Amino acid sequence: MRIDIITCLPQLLESFFAASILRRAQDKGLVEVHLHDLRDYTPYKHRQVDDYAFGGGAGMVLMIEPIVRCLRTLQAQRQYDEIIYLTPDGETLNQKTANTLSLKENFILLCGHYKGVDERVREHFVTREISIGDYVLSGGELAAAVLADALIRLVPGVLSDETSALTDSFQDDLLAPPVYTRPADFEGLKAPEILLSGHEANIARWRMDQALDRTRKRRPDLLDE
Ligand code: ADE
Repeated sequence: MRIDIITCLPQLLESFFAASILRRAQDKGLVEVHLHDLRDYTPYKHRQVDDYAFGGGAGMVLMIEPIVRCLRTLQAQRQYDEIIYLTPDGETLNQKTANTLSLKENFILLCGHYKGVDERVREHFVTREISIGDYVLSGGELAAAVLADALIRLVPGVLSDETSALTDSFQDDLLAPPVYTRPADFEGLKAPEILLSGHEANIARWRMDQALDRTRKRRPDLLDE
């Protein structure tokens, strides 16, 4: 999988992709993440990438030229499966969307800022628009990081135990059951004995019961689906 992220604040994202699972995924050659500074593509003086909205009103709008120049530079090098614009009015991201997208190979993620991007970019260049929830962030960078993380961890080989993404919450419309580790007894707070029993079938049944119970209590809407 290859993810190209277009942003006017690449420094916001650098450390995110330089640590932990996402770092290892890149080191193992399973995933490539490339950050592109929108300001490197602008034809305007002083690296300007935004301007006042036509018709007036507060807030700046990212201009079409730097975005399209960057898109064309990338598209001249390879075919992209999706050009995704992160925006609060896009379709809300969920595990199903992440699963479906993770089967694709090459992504461009476009981060908006200020009042967003010139509408012509959305109409003519973007293939998909995704929101990470019904709240407004000051830019699309955090949303791009969330989406990239959700996709990268689904790439085969990224998680050390390949089955562990399959046992995540939401993968089967159930929340994940509780987990415990050493010590088995912390100041009288005991881990459930069944997990120490070594009886695999009983443990599997207990986990399924717990997952169902937790889903019923916290997210009954998942069971309705
Ligand atoms: N940009 C600003 N807020 C956002 C959100 N909730 N999701 C995606 N992109 C955004």
